[in-house]
Amino acid sequence: METSSDRYIREHSTLPSEALDWIEKQTNIHTNHPRMLSGRVQGELLKILVEISGATRVLEIGTFTGYSATCLALGLPEGGRLDALEINDELEELILEGWKKAGVDGKISLHIGDARETLARLEGPYDLAFMDANKRQYCEYYEMLLPKMRKGGLIVADDVLWDGKVFEDPMPQDSQTLGVAAFNDLVAADPRVEQVLLPLRDGLNIIRII
Ligand SMILES: C[S@@+](CC[C@H](N)C(=O)[O-])C[C@H]1O[C@@H](n2cnc3c(N)ncnc32)[C@H](O)[C@@H]1O
Repeated sequence: METSSDRYIREHSTLPSEALDWIEKQTNIHTNHPRMLSGRVQGELLKILVEISGATRVLEIGTFTGYSATCLALGLPEGGRLDALEINDELEELILEGWKKAGVDGKISLHIGDARETLARLEGPYDLAFMDANKRQYCEYYEMLLPKMRKGGLIVADDVLWDGKVFEDPMPQDSQTLGVAAFNDLVAADPRVEQVLLPLRDGLNIIRII
């Protein structure tokens, strides 16, 4: 449920385009877990991160209905490219329709399949990557991604607070909570990166490769 602080933040952040509203509406109508969608505040942050970092090659792991990919692509300059990785082929038609409406279809390549297999095939260097797929696999995505990232590039990992479960005592022992907690610990101890964990929405870890 939206709190008054969520509402205040939403009302004072840039309004999403009509196409983003359309994607959100279709997601509510056609999917069982519409809450997975990034939403307008996080979406705007992703767009601004692409813009201020000057990224031209961006990767997304976990596209769902294409909302966050649209935001990332809107931040790209002319000629910039986004590789979007999604395992669920039933979403393909909706994703492509939304991107067309948003006018970003020419900037994005959709790769349907397990991100771990797709990642093994894709070549870097990427300037920015957004991780938002299976929480049990975050450590695997991270280790596969790092060698494909440009020095100074950013990895943005979503849902890293996992509804607060990662700091509950005792911590729930389900595989998703364990996956997110292991990932946060891995990043915190990794001398290859610097990072800041932001409490936006369900937690965003912004990781810079040094
Ligand atoms: C939280 S949703 C992504 C939301 C999207 N980034 C957004 O903000 O609109 C996670 C997505 O990751 C996909 N996914 C899960 N495991 C995957 C994998 N191994 N490879 C690719 N996609 C995967 C799921 O099918 C789901 O659509």
